[in-house]
Amino acid sequence: MQWSRIAVFASGQGSNFAALIAAEREGLLGGGSIELLVSDKPEAPVAQRAEDAGISSLLLRPKDFASRELYEAEIVAELQRREIGLIVLAGYMRLITPVLLTPYAGRIINIHPSLLPAFAGKDAMGQALNYGVKLTGVTVHFVDGGMDTGPVIAQRSLVVEDNDTATSLADRIHKVEYELYPEVVAALAAGRIELVGRKTIIREK
Ligand code: GRF
Repeated sequence: MQWSRIAVFASGQGSNFAALIAAEREGLLGGGSIELLVSDKPEAPVAQRAEDAGISSLLLRPKDFASRELYEAEIVAELQRREIGLIVLAGYMRLITPVLLTPYAGRIINIHPSLLPAFAGKDAMGQALNYGVKLTGVTVHFVDGGMDTGPVIAQRSLVVEDNDTATSLADRIHKVEYELYPEVVAALAAGRIELVGRKTIIREK
């Protein structure tokens, strides 16, 4: 499996998907190429983004399948047909089962809008604001069977201002995401990331 053949999974807006496409077009994805969008929400804006960018998509409704496992088996078949070597979750709002995790062990990454392990799960930015933390940020991590629990690859922090609202904080977090995610995907696509136990080591270019 080649690390450079990438599938992005997303359920919503797809602004990170767009940032990854832009990075690839600018030659900033470490030689990686985005081969496929997978979405569990065929009507989501991200599907239109794929179409506009000329990227193939696999749009499946989980409820059309008898089980989560059968839904994922269909995805795995398509990933293997396209020789995908790296799965990039970008706002994909589902837990992954062993049907996908096992063949892609260590090859699935996610981006989360907090400094994990703080504020895992849904509405991380709301959780951070409610808690009153002064620093929050963005984490890119490998995916395991848990909710935002896999080994951390990269983190970037930002200051929470006293007058921040959910919207203003989300805007700044997104800007960080659009820089950090393509950097990490580029490093993986170029084979510069190694996992030793729970620690990741990123070799410089
Ligand atoms: C991002 O904030 C990401 O951290 C989280 O889901 C959001 C997706 O946003 N996992 P978008 O669909 O990329 O605009």
